[in-house]
Amino acid sequence: MENNKRPETMARITTKALADAFIEEQIAALREQIGDKKVLLALSGGVDSSVVAALLIKAIGKQLVCVHVNHGLMRKGESEDVIKIFGEAMEANLIYIDATDRFLDLLAGVADPERKRKIIGAEFINVFADEARKLENITYLAQGTIYPDILESIKQAEGKKAVKSHHNVGGLPEDLKFELVEPLKLLFKDEVRVVGEALGLPHAMVYRQPFPGPGLGVRCLGAITRDRLNALREADAILREEFDNSGLNEKVWQYFIAVPDIKSVGVKDESRYEGWPAIIRAVNTTDAMTATIEEIPYAVLHHITQRITNEVEGINRVLYDLTPKPTGTIEWE
Ligand code: XMP
Repeated sequence: MENNKRPETMARITTKALADAFIEEQIAALREQIGDKKVLLALSGGVDSSVVAALLIKAIGKQLVCVHVNHGLMRKGESEDVIKIFGEAMEANLIYIDATDRFLDLLAGVADPERKRKIIGAEFINVFADEARKLENITYLAQGTIYPDILESIKQAEGKKAVKSHHNVGGLPEDLKFELVEPLKLLFKDEVRVVGEALGLPHAMVYRQPFPGPGLGVRCLGAITRDRLNALREADAILREEFDNSGLNEKVWQYFIAVPDIKSVGVKDESRYEGWPAIIRAVNTTDAMTATIEEIPYAVLHHITQRITNEVEGINRVLYDLTPKPTGTIEWE
């Protein structure tokens, strides 16, 4: 546990110069630890795994094997971005697995969000383990563990109950024994971002809003169907695009669309049109334990509503959730 404790003397990484020093130090330490061995990394495209990937690519190049599992619950364009940034621009050793059918088949008919989480978490490990077994001579597993994860584990070890089960790559099957490489484990999120930018990752990726491991699976309420999941993904992409255009992406901590499993009657092209509502959620928070509602200019809401109802198949209404946390949670699930 001792090397899991952040030394009190460790300066907060707030500038490019401090990030560069951290990167140099880590590159030396990683090369020393890894030697000529190979390292496996589950690269989701989230901030933490992306920064770990960029750091390891710099330190050990092709000795790093990145596996990107597309569980079919990613936001629009996310897997493509991982391929572009890591596979193409950084020339990483990247294996892309489209496991959409595996996940959606298992999730068919499952409405309970905690069951969905468990299925997604377990299947993620299955897919990743299947791939890991095909690879030879892997010694290490890299993880994007950051300091708040370490602090959370300490809390859990002390018997404090977690509100929800969050999944990561921990818990691989017995036959897959790797040593861990966790170069970010003493960093806070803001420091990870500064390091990510210093490593040359795109600003949008490094300052990306948090996205739950189970992805759109928890936002497609009730039992997931492909058509509703698709509607959710398209509506969410429009919301994100309009938040980018209006600068709200810099002001709002987390924003997304949820689509419940209810239909109402509406009108499209002068005909009766039964569709789902798209629910906008846009919250600000510092620690996700409580959250406030960001005031979105009416004109932006109006424009988003028009675009979603005109462009997204299956959606006939747009609603704006005004509930802070508590009494709501941030996610709808
Ligand atoms: P709630 O809904 O509990 O969300 O207010 C708080 C924060 O946690 C994120 N969240 C998750 N993240 N796996 C994750 O990695 C999950 O299963 C999960 N559920 C919620 C949520 O997006 C918000 O930022």
